[in-house]
Amino acid sequence: MTTATAEDFQYLQGFLLDRSAIVLSEDKQYLVETRLLPVVQRHGVESITDLVRAIRRGDKTVETAVVDAMTTNETSWFRDAAPFDALRNLVLPELVASNVTRRRLAIWSAACSTGQELYSVAMLLDSEFSDLASWRVDLHGTDLSTTVVQRARTGSFTALEINRGLPATLLVRYFRREGAQFVIADSIRSRVRFELFNLARPWPPMQDYDVILLRNVLIYFDVETKRDVLERVRGRLRPGGFLLLGTAETTRGLVDGFRPIPVGATTVFRREES
Ligand SMILES: C[S@@+](CC[C@H](N)C(=O)[O-])C[C@H]1O[C@@H](n2cnc3c(N)ncnc32)[C@H](O)[C@@H]1O
Repeated sequence: MTTATAEDFQYLQGFLLDRSAIVLSEDKQYLVETRLLPVVQRHGVESITDLVRAIRRGDKTVETAVVDAMTTNETSWFRDAAPFDALRNLVLPELVASNVTRRRLAIWSAACSTGQELYSVAMLLDSEFSDLASWRVDLHGTDLSTTVVQRARTGSFTALEINRGLPATLLVRYFRREGAQFVIADSIRSRVRFELFNLARPWPPMQDYDVILLRNVLIYFDVETKRDVLERVRGRLRPGGFLLLGTAETTRGLVDGFRPIPVGATTVFRREES
């Protein structure tokens, strides 16, 4: 059966909220169906109801597949341009100046999808901030979805993905062709690391970062979760560090301790010193 029953939908709403904090509003029944039918086929079951039964039984493989399928992994190179201009023109020059003695930087792409966001940062650093070549620079990408984290690690992209925002100069400089795929240079891939990480669950002990990109993920959460995630992100930012959000996202009205700084067509959020 191709449709999700009202009971399936209600169960999946609760399941997804619990596992990912993603809010599935009442009008998203079509989304459940389009996203889960391929999972039904892949797992050789008859219906979405069978998937729900498998989750209720505690089938971890189906749980992971359903969470993966229900995440929206839309991304592109240098997405929205303006945040990368802000990195180029304000954030990185400031951080380079203030860390000149430490010679360390840590940058976290906290909902990295298939990696284009973090790889864009890595190429920006390599091509325009050559002073950093001798620094210790930690480029960390994390996401809830197992599938996208595995894809990000490969550094391998289709022509369609490459066509979404990658400047030709960077394609020529940093990619090689392998059959139908475009694979990022080892010099870039070796500088980034990707891990599974659920923003909505308790976080393991972790380092502090100079920049956190938390872009186009808060939009899926309810206000309580947005607030909680932003509080914890602030706790992981070094004083004076920068938070970059998606175009439709802000810290305003949710958490204190960030100073919004307009830069060109965007706003970055700087963690206050105290
Ligand atoms: C629309 S993509 C954004 C990718 C990238 N940041 C960008 O702006 O292009 C949203 C990502 O958030 C991830 N996500 C959703 N809920 C999450 C959670 N609770 N913890 C971590 N990542 C989550 C999804 O798997 C998806 O890859």
